[in-house]
Amino acid sequence: MILNRLKKNLKKTKLVLIKEGTESFRLYDQDIPEYPYVIDVYGEEHVIIWPRMNSKMDEGKEDHFMETLDALVELLNIPRSHIHIKGRFKQKGLKQYEKIKKQKQTIIIKELGLNYLINLTDYLDTGLFMDHRPFRKKLTKSQGTGLKLLNLFCYTSSISVAAASAGYITTNVDLSNTYLEWSKENFRLNELSISNHQFIKNSAVTYLQQEITSDNKFDLIFLDPPTFSNSKSMDKEFEVEQDHVQVITNCMLLLKSNGVLYFSNNKKSFKLASDLKEKYQIKDISYQSIPKDFRDKKIHQFYEIRKIL
Ligand SMILES: C[S@@+](CC[C@H](N)C(=O)[O-])C[C@H]1O[C@@H](n2cnc3c(N)ncnc32)[C@H](O)[C@@H]1O
Repeated sequence: MILNRLKKNLKKTKLVLIKEGTESFRLYDQDIPEYPYVIDVYGEEHVIIWPRMNSKMDEGKEDHFMETLDALVELLNIPRSHIHIKGRFKQKGLKQYEKIKKQKQTIIIKELGLNYLINLTDYLDTGLFMDHRPFRKKLTKSQGTGLKLLNLFCYTSSISVAAASAGYITTNVDLSNTYLEWSKENFRLNELSISNHQFIKNSAVTYLQQEITSDNKFDLIFLDPPTFSNSKSMDKEFEVEQDHVQVITNCMLLLKSNGVLYFSNNKKSFKLASDLKEKYQIKDISYQSIPKDFRDKKIHQFYEIRKIL
């Protein structure tokens, strides 16, 4: 049953994406309720499977899970060891499939003709949030020469790589040295000189507070915070719903008069504060910003925010 669905999805998705130079995509997104997984393909060789089961649904799903692994091996002609399982199973019988030790298995994959370093084994996320592929596509096709992009909570800076390939000069802010180093590697992999771009280790919230009075203004800001964040190096914890008004207000002060802020987040229940809607010109671009290979059209909320001139 699952094999046929995977075949159908592969046929529908792969050819379209290969033509645009993309080799990572969502093959399966909980299409069949009895097979509650998300399956992502990374290049010709690797697959990540995310079980999305709760304890009730878990029961009796062991056979389905093994059937899915077999189907992936057959369909993609890859060894079982190239199917990487993320997340946690609630059912005992399935726990044997969970990752036992760290393995630092990395590959380079192409998206829209650009190279990205992917870590298949050591973190919950791989280094590339595929749900923002359409936004990266928009950036690669834009004319960015002479324009400045600020990427807050930049993670591995895939958005900045796409922008830099179109000529943007980027400033990338993240709390984590690991992700800033990974960002630089992504730039190098695309022969984009890192000396033209900035990589700043700071809390995005503190960076904004420090910079709002500066004359350094941006044409574009990409703000993609986690739902929640807490770290010793932060004055206080960050929660997207509670803190988005302050952060967006500060971003708007850092924009040029015709600049655009792109604000995204993954909190399912997130509601944009209504006073922001009165102060700025805000367009909800969530639906159009989600890739065709994602069935979950609520994977993120995405807003385009401009000053009212
Ligand atoms: C891009 S966000 C998460 C994006 C995605 N919307 C999600 O919810 O999974 C993850 C990044 O934010 C960084 N981060 C977390 N709190 C931060 C903070 N206060 N300032 C700057 N970066 C932060 C993390 O180090 C990580 O690289």
